[in-house]
Amino acid sequence: MVNIFRTLAESAPVPVCLHLDHSTSIDYCKKCADAGYTNIMIDASKQSYEENIRQTKEVVDYCHAIGGISVEGELGTVGGVEDQIKVAEDEAQLANPEQSVEFVERTGVDIFAPAIGTAHGVYKTKNPKIDFERMAVIHKMLNGNGIKTPLVVHGGTGLPDDYVTKLLAAGGAKFNVSTELKHTLLDAKWEYLSAHRDEYDPGKLDVFVRDATRKAVMHWMDKLGCEGKA
Ligand code: 13P
Repeated sequence: MVNIFRTLAESAPVPVCLHLDHSTSIDYCKKCADAGYTNIMIDASKQSYEENIRQTKEVVDYCHAIGGISVEGELGTVGGVEDQIKVAEDEAQLANPEQSVEFVERTGVDIFAPAIGTAHGVYKTKNPKIDFERMAVIHKMLNGNGIKTPLVVHGGTGLPDDYVTKLLAAGGAKFNVSTELKHTLLDAKWEYLSAHRDEYDPGKLDVFVRDATRKAVMHWMDKLGCEGKA
């Protein structure tokens, strides 16, 4: 499977990485690195601070020794939307700026995901509480003299457009969007199958679903101002 996706990624007209998201297992990270993934996220954020550093560094060292693989680490809690409000209001669960700098320096991660109150899934409120200021401070401390460690925003689905603009200004360089694409994929399947009950052509279904998903991805690329920057 990795070989198939790597071939597709390598022949794409824009840079595409093969990303392992939120792996809590060092062994699994290593397995994916060996298999040919090009971006590995070790998520040891549920561990103690020191243990998070230890596990993240182990994956960084392993992947960097192979070469051609970037590693992402996380500090603080990026949970599900069920806990979003609780997390956003509890400073202790968000990424501490001083610790963020230390974490990046000691682990050597290539990209860094600080918890700032975003969450995975569809937000329960229209205006989720997000700590933009914290993001900006961390960005300034890490990248004030030129980008060294791009920052990642998790929980992209459902973020209002003006939040996205503010997060970009605060240093967001990679936005993770998953739930929206899953919804698009399944809704498109449902729509096509409902309208073509007598057709048994999986190829046509695939094309319809691919086009719908592509549209959703392109909408995000527009929002993030990615066009022409590859
Ligand atoms: P969403 O599913 O909320 O878009 O979050 C994606 C994500 O952050 C994956 O790491």
